[in-house]
Amino acid sequence: MDVIDLFCNTSTICIGIPNPTRSSCSFRQSTIRCMSSSVLPESVKVDSKQDCGSLTGDSFIRPHLRKLKAYQPILPFEVLSIRLGRKPEDIIKLDANENPYGPPPEVFEALGSMRFPYIYPDPESRRLRAALAEDSGIEAEYILAGCGADELIDLIMRCVLDPGEKIVDCPPTFTMYEFDASVNDAIVIKVPRKSDFSLDVKRIAEVVEQEKPKCIFLTSPNNPDGSIIDDETLQKILNLPILVVLDEAYIEFSGLESRMGWVKKHENLIVLRTFSKRAALAGLRVGYGAFPLSIIEYLWRAKQPYNVSAAAEVAACAALQNPAYLEKVKVALVQERDRLFKLLKEIPFLNPYPSHSNFILCEVKSNIDAKKLKEDLAKMGVMIRHYSNKELAAYVRVSVGRPEHTDVLMECLKRLY
Ligand SMILES: Cc1ncc(COP(=O)(O)O)c(C=O)c1O
Repeated sequence: MDVIDLFCNTSTICIGIPNPTRSSCSFRQSTIRCMSSSVLPESVKVDSKQDCGSLTGDSFIRPHLRKLKAYQPILPFEVLSIRLGRKPEDIIKLDANENPYGPPPEVFEALGSMRFPYIYPDPESRRLRAALAEDSGIEAEYILAGCGADELIDLIMRCVLDPGEKIVDCPPTFTMYEFDASVNDAIVIKVPRKSDFSLDVKRIAEVVEQEKPKCIFLTSPNNPDGSIIDDETLQKILNLPILVVLDEAYIEFSGLESRMGWVKKHENLIVLRTFSKRAALAGLRVGYGAFPLSIIEYLWRAKQPYNVSAAAEVAACAALQNPAYLEKVKVALVQERDRLFKLLKEIPFLNPYPSHSNFILCEVKSNIDAKKLKEDLAKMGVMIRHYSNKELAAYVRVSVGRPEHTDVLMECLKRLY
């Protein structure tokens, strides 16, 4: 294969595989030769007289991304297993709000009998959207599926935000909003929640007026504390001139109705949901959202064509075929949440917050270090979540597991201090 030369007045961009016969235009040991600075974007600072041999790869990266702090994901089960020196089945994983019951049996059967894994998936996820329409009561034309709700958060930002535009974030909350805003070169205006984790609506309204942000991300139930947003509060925020993205990743555990149907009445509302929690499909990555028709059209244009894999669609459809199983698992988790809450309350150094979700946030009293508590439990094979940001440094979040997981956690907590 040869080098492609693009002539642009006196400048040449060399793209391609090394060509030993053209020493002035070769890629060698990650150095780049003969690129004229006049054809490079301004962010790539090159002295025109200087040889480009000293140019490093990161100079091609968009400036705002060079400052980006990587998202801190959880460790995969296998890696965790090696680090802790325990078999995966001996680890009690209460750190990522996963559903410990796994999906309905139909999911395994459907995945095992997939006939066309070698064919690209349906770019419109038609089967899944039809099943979701039945499940949610809102027509399929309002629904778009994604590679997890995470993909949809990023897709919304890519469609809505120009670089330098603003979003409102209400911490403590799901940190992906802030992360994706940074990836999209947006500015994050933080309106912290009040001490009981409710939204500061007055401050949100002020910020909307003063800063003219484009959108606000709200989470109900909120991650990490499990509080919910009532209709009146949501309505007040919807009355502001701002696009409201309501993340309902945990709505099933709240006993409340989803607001997906509201997108038909509100041009400035998007509602996101996921199969990760309700259907225990976190590993397969399927999320979905309800959008006003005037917005969804642009997400269709901008999304990756095959964003929901064939396996993800098959699994999600199979999960929806067994609503009785999904209900049973949800009831089990809600009951266990209530038992866990009572037990955590008995631990003298923890102050758990009531939650409408499948996790419980606990304040760790000042005589105990929350990070050390997390590490000590990890050594005993019990994973819980601790946060590195200073607002939540004295808190841990415990996902609701099976009853036997709660029992082991309580035993470890009592043994520790
Ligand atoms: C509030 C919230 N939204 C979205 C997600 C991500 O959902 P998904 O797994 O569908 O990407 C999470 C995951 O923990 C979450 O806590």
